Amino acid sequence: MGILKLIVMIKIGIFYATISKNTKRVAELIAATLNVSHNNIYNLMDIETVDVMLQYDLLILGSPTYGKGNWHYLWEEIFDEMKRLDFSHAHFSIFCLGDQIHHQKTFAGAMTKMYAALTEKKVSVIGAWSSQDYELTDSPMLIEYQTFPGLIIDEINQSNLTEARTISWCNQLISHLQS
Ligand SMILES: Cc1cc2nc3c(=O)[nH]c(=O)nc-3n(C[C@H](O)[C@H](O)[C@H](O)COP(=O)(O)O)c2cc1C
Repeated sequence: MGILKLIVMIKIGIFYATISKNTKRVAELIAATLNVSHNNIYNLMDIETVDVMLQYDLLILGSPTYGKGNWHYLWEEIFDEMKRLDFSHAHFSIFCLGDQIHHQKTFAGAMTKMYAALTEKKVSVIGAWSSQDYELTDSPMLIEYQTFPGLIIDEINQSNLTEARTISWCNQLISHLQS
């Protein structure tokens, strides 16, 4: 089956939070790669009810990391509200942003939080990503995961890799959904 045909059959929604717009840019790159139209990309700031999530077969969730390895504060409320919804029909994927040089010890901690919240909901999470090619030596992310549970983007130190990483990750998602 061709990629485009598969995408038409699978309804994809992208949900992200951002402060300085890096996560927004990655969300838009994912959307362009997967042919997701603008009205299926949500900034959490603009969501009135989480019930909009129920229409999607694949939900791609994005967060930057702030504080000490925390997710964007809006995810706290969204995950809380998601508790009452049944997502047994759906797959989830995560992408997170972080800074591996200045925040090595808490690098991409948003991913740990999001993965834990999804695991607690017992939903299907796809889109694991290799931890190779990051400049990590002393990061809890490496100790916790040999393979990250989702895509990690570092716009501060490795922005030259963002596009290739994102496209490759999207292709992996498609292959997974096709198998
Ligand atoms: C005050 C502050 C705290 C940050 N804390 C972390 C952190 O703990 N871990 C990390 O990996 N990155 C951290 N970062 C880096 C951001 O995650 C990174 O700049 C990201 O690209 C921001 O995404 P956004 O533009 O979508 O808000 C921090 C950045 C700032 C400004």
